[in-house]
Amino acid sequence: MPALVNIDGRLLPPGEAHVSVFDRGFLYGDSVYEVVRTYGGRPFEVDAHLTRLARSASRIGLTLPWDVRRVAVELERTLDGARGFDPAPPDAAPWNVGERMIRIVMTRGSGDLGLDPALAAAPSANVIVHPLGGPTASAYRDGVAACVVGVERAAPSAADPSAKTGLHLPHVLAVREARLQGAHEAFLTDGRGHVTEGASSNLFAVRAGGLITPPLGAGILEGVTRGVALRLARELGLASEEAALTVGDLERADELFITSTTREILPVTRLDARPVGSGRVGPVTRRLHEAFRALASRPLRPTRASPQGL
Ligand code: PDD
Repeated sequence: MPALVNIDGRLLPPGEAHVSVFDRGFLYGDSVYEVVRTYGGRPFEVDAHLTRLARSASRIGLTLPWDVRRVAVELERTLDGARGFDPAPPDAAPWNVGERMIRIVMTRGSGDLGLDPALAAAPSANVIVHPLGGPTASAYRDGVAACVVGVERAAPSAADPSAKTGLHLPHVLAVREARLQGAHEAFLTDGRGHVTEGASSNLFAVRAGGLITPPLGAGILEGVTRGVALRLARELGLASEEAALTVGDLERADELFITSTTREILPVTRLDARPVGSGRVGPVTRRLHEAFRALASRPLRPTRASPQGL
């Protein structure tokens, strides 16, 4: 069975996995979540994801129904139940074939209608295991298009961008705008001329062989893959800087790429329908992605052991 859902510890096929219309995740986006992926069937960087899940929950005052060790155990249990064969699309990137995406969603739970969080009876835990999908081999070979959209990142004072919450509408609308322009990813701005991140990715520019990525203070999610990319850059001896980026900086960049769990390090070769640099995947992006591939191809240890430091 290639897809399976775990609701509060009950394993269910997708067709039977229902949540209440009174669940605050459904009504108000009152939830936190994580997206993890597998390599060789094993979840990648799971400790970092679970640490961020706990941090997101604490930022919005949501008491997680499971502690992170239980989340790790339930994640494994759901993955185990979802072993099986997925037919791969013909242009699938080889490292994505047969892999899983795991979405962990913790909501404040159900209760009487009303915004007051105290109305929630008990939080709800959900783990969705799904075939990964992921970018195609040609997306890595040729790069993808991105565009700067009119939708702005919610103000950090209104919605803490470092918490991965169910507040998705701005990103949904950003992706809608990007798709209308034929682009794969939407870049959001802070309304003061700085580009912050993609709708579901972090963003890097390459200038004179070095990396530049917006700092955490720019109002972005601290992406797990962003952290891996910065670590790999250090190991490869590439200069990297965390600095604000304007739209003009992106237009003048030699190379651009985005990072996310499901996309790894994905080259962006067109920005707002114009070529980025040479218009082809650049050497720095290629080198970094090769390093990422080498890292992700190493066998991963089981996560049933408790995550370190949690
Ligand atoms: N998105 N920024 C935003 C707003 C994101 O939603 C994501 C992840 C990232 C990249 O983070 P990471 O490297 O930890 O995946 C940055 C996930 C993949 C999603 O919502 O599907």
